[in-house]
Amino acid sequence: MTEIVKNSLDRAVYQYRNMHKTLPDTLFPKSIDKEGKLVTNPRQWWTSGFFPGSLWYLYEYSQDESMKQIAIKRTAVLKKEQYNNMDHDIGFKMLCSYGNGIRLTKDSTTVSILIKSAESLISRFNDSTGVIKSWEEFKGYTYPVIIDNMMNLELLFWASRVSGNRKYRDIAISHADKTIENHFRKDYSSYHVLAYDSGTGEVLAKKTAQGAADESAWARGQAWGLYGYTMTYRETKDQKYLDQAKKIADFILNHPNLPEDHVPYWDFNAPDIPYTLRDASAAAIMASALIELSSYTNDKGDKYLDAAEKIIRSLSSEEYIAKAGENGNFILKHGVGHKPGNSEIDVPLSYADYYFIEALIRLKKTKKLKK
Ligand code: GLY
Repeated sequence: MTEIVKNSLDRAVYQYRNMHKTLPDTLFPKSIDKEGKLVTNPRQWWTSGFFPGSLWYLYEYSQDESMKQIAIKRTAVLKKEQYNNMDHDIGFKMLCSYGNGIRLTKDSTTVSILIKSAESLISRFNDSTGVIKSWEEFKGYTYPVIIDNMMNLELLFWASRVSGNRKYRDIAISHADKTIENHFRKDYSSYHVLAYDSGTGEVLAKKTAQGAADESAWARGQAWGLYGYTMTYRETKDQKYLDQAKKIADFILNHPNLPEDHVPYWDFNAPDIPYTLRDASAAAIMASALIELSSYTNDKGDKYLDAAEKIIRSLSSEEYIAKAGENGNFILKHGVGHKPGNSEIDVPLSYADYYFIEALIRLKKTKKLKK
């Protein structure tokens, strides 16, 4: 495994150095188009924190001062996002970028940016629902909450820890509890979108936006849930979140439609399995979460770690990892962004890269692999 992890991280460093050289100063890499040309997004888009975040991880790996300078520069472009409360994605954007920067440099000058970001995020919470609103509107519903939102709670736990103010953490816990209550099916798969009534807190509808059907298990959604509850257990040490994470992991790993190489189809219930696409982004998020989960579970730890290693082997193979200088300088191929929306299908995605790098670094630390 040492060799695989090293080769993949070295490839990541190579690709992202080139990415930095070709990328305009104020934009972020999103994907590539049909001609293989880089597609970028401005800071407001939900994925904008992943490139700076990946650069921070690659600095952590390489200890190369020039990588640190690139990470600082790309992170700073996000500064104004601390005020953006138009959707829930501020957690993804700011913790992946500024959060990793603070973790690695101990630079306290940017702490207030993250506290303000947490404040922006909780402005989307209401007591009647007990959850943070993800989007302003979805199919006529005005209080939609998506499973992805579990990921943004990490910013709130961080903000309470650093500021000493419990309010962020209390909201995160409320959101996590309500999501257990409402978002999951009996088999521990999750719906993508829930529509709440903002006045009564009642769940009005259970829908999908990016999955194959309302009742299907969209692969990345399952990955967000797994990662989200593993992180919530880390932050609270409350057994119920660990139980939830294990149930989600077991749903994924025992699913008859999970391929042998453990890179899931874009939806566990996609109608045309096995003649449909895999989603490398879901696989990368799952791998990273499973490595962390394995460290909390005596009974199933090996099973989760073995599964994560299998994913990392698969994503590090030629089928998924880009050749040096190819793939628009992204690291992984074969991600699926929004299949029903006919957008970003079988392409590189900045979040697939971010969670792949995170998984590689986590595995390196967990197994104490040599550089
Ligand atoms: N949070 C959006 C997605 O996973 O596509």
